[in-house]
Amino acid sequence: MPTRRDLLKTGLYSSAALLHLTGVRFDTWALDGGKNVPPNPKATPFQVALPIPAAKTPVSPDTLPGVPRFSDGIPTDYFSVNVQQALAQILSGKQTLIWGYDGVTPGPTFPARLGRRIVVRQTNRLPSNINVHHHGGHTQSLSDGSALPELEIPPGQFRDYIYDNDDDVGATHWYHDHTLDVTGHNVFMGLAGFYFLGSTTVDALNLPGGPVDANVPGGPFDVPLVLQDRTFDANNQLVYNPFDHDGFIGNTFLINGAVQPKFRVGNRKYRFRVLNGSNARFYQISLSSGRSFQIIGSDDGLLKAPIEDTSFRIGPAERVEIVVDFSFYVPGPNTHVFLNNTMVQTEGRGPDGVDPTQPFPLMRFDVAATIPDNSTVPAVLETGLPIFNRADVSARRSFEFVRSDGAWQVNNKFFDPSRIDATVKLNATEIWTLKNGGGGWFHPVHIHRNGFFILDRNGSPVSGHESGLKDVFVLAGGDQVHVITKFTGAKQLGKYVFHCHNIEHEDMRMMGLFKVVA
Ligand code: C2O
Ligand code: CU
Repeated sequence: MPTRRDLLKTGLYSSAALLHLTGVRFDTWALDGGKNVPPNPKATPFQVALPIPAAKTPVSPDTLPGVPRFSDGIPTDYFSVNVQQALAQILSGKQTLIWGYDGVTPGPTFPARLGRRIVVRQTNRLPSNINVHHHGGHTQSLSDGSALPELEIPPGQFRDYIYDNDDDVGATHWYHDHTLDVTGHNVFMGLAGFYFLGSTTVDALNLPGGPVDANVPGGPFDVPLVLQDRTFDANNQLVYNPFDHDGFIGNTFLINGAVQPKFRVGNRKYRFRVLNGSNARFYQISLSSGRSFQIIGSDDGLLKAPIEDTSFRIGPAERVEIVVDFSFYVPGPNTHVFLNNTMVQTEGRGPDGVDPTQPFPLMRFDVAATIPDNSTVPAVLETGLPIFNRADVSARRSFEFVRSDGAWQVNNKFFDPSRIDATVKLNATEIWTLKNGGGGWFHPVHIHRNGFFILDRNGSPVSGHESGLKDVFVLAGGDQVHVITKFTGAKQLGKYVFHCHNIEHEDMRMMGLFKVVA
């Protein structure tokens, strides 16, 4: 049988990987990638109320035989998740087969706290291997879920993930599948969820949905929104093409697993944690009223100060937190505000551009209630963000993301899980240059383990949410960014990946491996 590397040279790479390495059946999938599948007429907008993923509840470690125990005095919460197939009522009529953490998509939200450890037992009840990545986490290498074959969980087995939550600040993380070569398929099928890392510092800000709102009825006021695009066949089933290496672009838009949902709000402030959970699609988000909102957070924490804006771009895997004030609208049965996408994108190459004349409503806010509001958006938000000094920089590295023979490479190499591309000293401060080799392809590059600040893009400072602590860096064709971090954390030694988060590019090996050593 050919090796994965041989297969990389052939157009059959992904399908062969799927067949031989995971046992996933693909003969039911449309081999035209769903590009010619017309939008399913049963996907009617604004029918379904926005689903809010349930918070995951802890279990006693006594129910988890063999689970790691700790005697270091750090409080530890235990969770147990079954990763399984299920039927979901997404469209009217026939239910859709999905893959879900606990059989739901998006999966349950982890209620993590800075300084409090979490242990999650993930049991694989799917027919093929899985690997769970905690995206945004400052995670020990063996629990990180980097796309390494030795970390995969075979069917019927489980793995215990330890999350120390010893990051610098609270943030909106997420978790998703990261199985080598088939991440795109597995995430597309539904393997993604939120991971809220709370902190006392953030609680004290009195943001909407924080402790200040604990006894206010009519919530939630702190609302996750995961943006995803999907394609459904006439039978209401998901359509994915393992031969499409450009990046999956669907024709139906979901938020929190529902097609263009509606959400009833009061005339007050709400915090929205927006996650782009799409495989390859970019969005440009604005409100149909044209009103501004406060951008308060980015991938790995809140900003130092809120930024008022009317729109933002969000690439695959990025998180942007905003506060929207609905007190400008008079509550009533016909008071609707839409969350619009004005980014036009027809293929995985990247967005065609923003067209404000063609807003597409991703969801509808129905401003229908009068609800008190004691929350604020203070002028100073996160005070605990790390400081990385240029004077301390001990290494500079450069990674170029290039297309080659219809596949995807970093520094002219395909990902090889047995090759270390960079060895990083613990506590080193480093500047990485991330460069897009060109050709008009977008690459949203993600680095595991650490948050970074962007020093510049093509020589200019970045603005908006990109000025915050980040782990995804959008590179348009020919773009170059410099990013800085410090590799702190003596528990976080070992191997971590970095890669394009256009997941089809990642699966076609646009990925590298770094190792942190003491
Ligand atoms: Cu969100 Cu390595 O991934
Ligand atoms: Cu890419």
